[in-house]
Amino acid sequence: MNLTFPPKGFQFSENDTYTFMEELGKGAHGNVFKIRNRAGRYYACKVFDPKVLDDEGQYRKFLQETQIGINIYHEHLVSFHKSVLIRESADADATRYPAILMDYINGHDLATFKKMYEFRFEKPFPRNFAALILAKACSGLEVLHRLNIQHGDIKPGNILISETGYPKLTDYGIATFIGDTSMTAELSGTLRYLAPEQIVSVKDGNVKVDLRADIYAIGIVALELTAGLPGQMYSHPGQVLDFIVNHNEALLNHVEKSELASDLKFVIRSCLDSRVKRRPSKVRELQNVLFHTIYGSHKGLTLEDIGDEMKRLVP
Ligand SMILES: Nc1ncnc2c1ncn2[C@@H]1O[C@H](COP(=O)(O)OP(=O)(O)OP(=O)(O)O)[C@@H](O)[C@H]1O
Ligand SMILES: [Mg+2]
Repeated sequence: MNLTFPPKGFQFSENDTYTFMEELGKGAHGNVFKIRNRAGRYYACKVFDPKVLDDEGQYRKFLQETQIGINIYHEHLVSFHKSVLIRESADADATRYPAILMDYINGHDLATFKKMYEFRFEKPFPRNFAALILAKACSGLEVLHRLNIQHGDIKPGNILISETGYPKLTDYGIATFIGDTSMTAELSGTLRYLAPEQIVSVKDGNVKVDLRADIYAIGIVALELTAGLPGQMYSHPGQVLDFIVNHNEALLNHVEKSELASDLKFVIRSCLDSRVKRRPSKVRELQNVLFHTIYGSHKGLTLEDIGDEMKRLVP
């Protein structure tokens, strides 16, 4: 989708008045804008491809999933405020875009934070930062899982870090109404977080995907931020998919050969097992080990310390 904002006469289908401030970024599913309401409160507005409206089933899912997000409040989750249809102009036949208004997080996503840190300080992103951020983000994921909601798109780009260092998971449930389009090569940057069964299920509808696909994805993020991923995960899309589906043993060996502490190795390996039943059923198992990793060697590190470090990166 190639959306240029603010389009002339752009308006919400409701009577609310919002002012578009800036484009925050572009993802695989649409564009995200910073907007402000009349009271001066900021929101992030995620605008989706109008194709979501083509299929009634998909549109129903869009409304259902965003409705779930509207009723979730947690310090490590981005809250959704409402789903809206926005039009490019007042014309009745103007293109309508489905959109979600959510908390605006003044900070950076974890992928950007990590990149900025490594570029600026010319050293790897600290493992204790990664462990604390992920351990806290796990409590957000646990809340979703208790409600039986699959996040479906866990990756560093969907872990937003507020200016006070608080990680907040976003975009939960969105993968379900975006459907198979998430399998396009466009998404090559996010393929590496897909669990083997998510890939296989696209071809074979009998393969079920459940909450443990998220456990796999958070395991990949934990590995990426601590020991790094094997080179095959950065290859072209076909090879990444082949590696995930057919070379699980190589991935587990990569973890085993890493320099990580044995308890972290053990839990990451079990999260990444292609045999879904061998994975921990709860994210809490990974979370406990991540906390242990921090408190074992870096007692006293707080999210606020991480927030301060993030602020140092912005000139
Ligand atoms: N609630 C938010 N507050 C502030 N910035 C946000 C918010 N949501 C997204 N962003 C920023 O907007 C950019 C685009 O986000 P978007 O979710 O579209 O892309 P993505 O996460 O890379 O991919 P995906 O479409 O798979 O989620 C990201 O850089 C992200 O940091
Ligand atoms: Mg996102």
